[in-house]
This record gives sequence, structure tokens and C-alpha cells, in this order.
Amino acid sequence: MKRSKIAGIGYYVPERIVTNNELTAVMDTTDEWIQERTGILERRYGKKHQETTSSMGAAATRIACERAGIAPEEIDFIIFATLSPDYYFPGCGVLLQRELGITHKEVGALDVRNQCSGFVYALSIADQFVKTGMYKNVLVVGSEMHSMGLDFSTRGRNVTVIFGDGAGAVIIQPTDDPHRGILTSKLHSNGTYAEKLAFINPGSHGGYHFKKLGEEVDFGYPPDDTYGEIFLTPKMKDEGLYYPNMEGQFVFKMAVQKFPEVIHEALNEAGLKPSDINMLIPHQANLRISQFVQKILGLRDDQVWNNIQKFGNTTAASVPIALCEAYEAGRVKEGDLVCLAAFGSGFTWASALIRW
Ligand code: UT7
Repeated sequence: MKRSKIAGIGYYVPERIVTNNELTAVMDTTDEWIQERTGILERRYGKKHQETTSSMGAAATRIACERAGIAPEEIDFIIFATLSPDYYFPGCGVLLQRELGITHKEVGALDVRNQCSGFVYALSIADQFVKTGMYKNVLVVGSEMHSMGLDFSTRGRNVTVIFGDGAGAVIIQPTDDPHRGILTSKLHSNGTYAEKLAFINPGSHGGYHFKKLGEEVDFGYPPDDTYGEIFLTPKMKDEGLYYPNMEGQFVFKMAVQKFPEVIHEALNEAGLKPSDINMLIPHQANLRISQFVQKILGLRDDQVWNNIQKFGNTTAASVPIALCEAYEAGRVKEGDLVCLAAFGSGFTWASALIRW
């Protein structure tokens, strides 16, 4: 079997910078709190009505294609990871295809809904397609337009201050070089804590999971025999029950456990150790999480890439944006061992080892 390699990489972030101080104007928060708890100084927000998750993904894709030396028309398959799609359906994969003007070839497009681990999952899917010889140029995109769906009142401050918009993309191609490419990827999930970090409305759940969990939550549903208004009830709109919610400390504790676990798992399989890593690209969830993981693995500062300070948490986009930045800074070079790792909602978590 062939190996897959990243042949081209690109990222795009919107121009508009939103500082912590700007957020203090609309909610009860402070620059000190945000910096101290998350490491974030600023994030980017897309232009309303002018940019979307798929259009930002297309911008990152154009750069990745150029670096891979291919035209967008040469893409054989599209995998798009996001939790903030333009539409509930269809997915962003087909919208990006249209945006790039490559609908004539009618290649397949797949959306991955794995939140923070979405890009690493998508990369692993691409790897399977490429190393089996099914496709030659697979596009993998992680993109998020969080700013359109956050609660900008004080009620949503624990979530809203963290997230930012942006996109990253890679072109995956086969390589004959047995020493290069994606060495392994490890994918995991555990749905036990699905609601601990979730965006549950609008949705078709009708309160089902909460009942099973023994929690009666009033979503304002109409009487049992009435259909309609299940997705989004007036009460949900009135009380802001259609925003993301997170039990931050719970998620934090799981994250610092699962990140090292899944990185060790990949390293063990490849017969490598943490000190062999030239660059760790952790999902940018919280600077404190990355620092904790760095310490546990015994890595130096120059072995870990952090950019949450500038971009906040961009969920599925955070790993490819960080990887691309490190690449552009000359900190990911041919022959380097790069480790990608992510943890988030689901919970889902994943790692990948790449010999660049
Ligand atoms: O990317 C997907 C995975 N996500 C993660 O891995 C995120 C993991 N969790 C975290 O990063 C952290 O838990 C947060 C940054 C979300 C929160 O930090 P924390 O240190 O765990 O704070 P907390 O939730 O325990 O809240 C502490 C206090 C609370 O006030 P009281 O109850 O102590 O009076 C919150 O109401 O901070 C308050 N608070 C805020 N204060 C100012 C929460 N958000 C804010 C805010 N500004 N934005």
C-alpha cells in the first residue's frame, strides 16, 4: 500500500480582529479573565453576509492547491469538517465545490461533524482513500464561522469569549517514499458526556436524551400529539436555548487526560517516543490545556505550536491553521515528525503522526 502525504496546505482567517476588550462592551467579562483562563488575546470574526464557513474553506483551499501544484479542478474528493455549517443541510462540502467552480466533475463531497477533532478525523478518512489508491488528490478542510451563532450576552460568556472564525485546508496525495507521509492516526469517541459540550437546538431530539438521563428540561414543546415547532420553539428563541453550552471544568479535565493518552497511543504504534516529535500541533482549545499536555509529554516550547492567543478556538479549523502557520514559519520541515492531536465535543478525540 502507498502512503499519503500532505502535498499542499493553506489557511484563511477573516480580517476583522476582535480583542477581549471589545467583548467587555457587550458582556460582563474582562481581558484579565480571558487571558488568565484561556491565553486568548484576540480572535477573528468573518464579515456578515460576505463570508461563510464554506467561502473561508474555499479561500484556504486555493492556497493549499497552489502549494500542491494542482488546480482545484484536479481535486478527486472533498472532505469538509465543521460544526458551524452554512446550512443545516446540505453540507459545506458541496457549497465549497460550487464556490470553487468545480461542479462539472461531480466528485464526491463528505461532511464530517466531529467538532474539535473533525480535521484529524477527516485527515484519517482521506488517508484511507489515498493509500488504497482510490483517489489521488483529496481535499480536507476544517472551517468555522462561530461568530454567527454565539450568545453575546453575559449568559454565554464562558463559551463566546473562546471561539473565533477561520479555515484551514490540505491536499492529500499518495507518495512512494516509504519514509514520508501519514504514519498513523488514532480516532476515539465516548458519547456518555455528549451534552457536556453541545449545541443541541435546533434539533429533532424532542427532549429524548434529557428524559433518559433523568433531567426534565422544559424546551417549550407543543402538546405530544402535535408536530412542528420541535426544532426551534418560541421558548428556545426567547430564552436563548439555541446556543452552544459547555461545562468548562468537566471538559478541561477530560481533555488533559485524553490528549496525552491518544498521542502516546500513536507514538507507541509507530515505535516512537515524545522526544522524537519535532512539532506537536494541539487543537487550540485553551492555552492552559496545551501547556499541561506539553508538560506531561516533557516537550520543550519549540516542540509545540500555539496560536490560540491570536485566533481563539477555531474548532475544526484550529489544527490546520496552526499546522499551516508552523509550516510557513519554517518550523515544519521535510523529515520532521509532526503530531496532530485534538479533543472536543462528543466527546471525540484523535491524533495523527506525519513524517513531513
Ligand atoms: O475546544 C473544545 C474543547 N473545549 C475545551 O477544552 C474547553 C475546556 N474548558 C476550558 O477551557 C475552561 O473550563 C473555560 C475557559 C471554559 C472556563 O475556565 P474555568 O477556569 O474552568 O472557569 P469556570 O467555568 O470554572 O468559571 C469560573 C468563574 C465562574 O464564576 P463563579 O461561579 O466562580 O462566580 C464563571 O461564571 O468564572 C466565571 N466566568 C467568567 N467570568 C468572566 C465564566 N466565563 C467568564 C468570562 N468572563 N468570560
